[in-house]
Amino acid sequence: MYFALKSNKELHYTGIDLWEVIEGKAYKNNKANEAKCRKKLKEFEGRHSLIKGDAFDISEKLEDQSYDFIFYDLQCKHMEGFHSSVIKKYLPKIKKGGVLIGCDFRSFRYDFYALGFKESDFKPCQFKNQRSQRLEYLHIN
Ligand SMILES: C[S@@+](CC[C@H](N)C(=O)[O-])C[C@H]1O[C@@H](n2cnc3c(N)ncnc32)[C@H](O)[C@@H]1O
Repeated sequence: MYFALKSNKELHYTGIDLWEVIEGKAYKNNKANEAKCRKKLKEFEGRHSLIKGDAFDISEKLEDQSYDFIFYDLQCKHMEGFHSSVIKKYLPKIKKGGVLIGCDFRSFRYDFYALGFKESDFKPCQFKNQRSQRLEYLHIN
């Protein structure tokens, strides 16, 4: 969120995170992660919203077709087997012509196939002339 908000002055960005202690080294101190995130985003007051909680439940409160893109970055151990149900909830939230971007989609391809996506739907993100190894996007129509 920090870098996206820094380089896109018109962007308003909503972030969702559980911020609870969950399995995995990076989440042992998830309270500190939350505090760091809130502190880093202070300089973008008015251009961001943070919602704390389970992404699955929060989806119920979000309006359909209200986001230009969603960046899905939920590759954690405890989410294994749940990606298709969460992604299914978020696809209608993206405006037609928007994109679902994400990190490590390769690790849970079958969750996307279960939703009807094909391998050819996945496009690699590009940075200058470099093709990202981990970031991909899907057009939503
Ligand atoms: C791979 S990390 C990415 C974090 C952040 N995007 C970043 O780049 O630093 C996954 C994040 O998902 C959060 N998370 C795990 N399960 C969640 C859930 N069910 N709902 C919302 N957030 C969740 C974790 O707390 C963790 O911060």
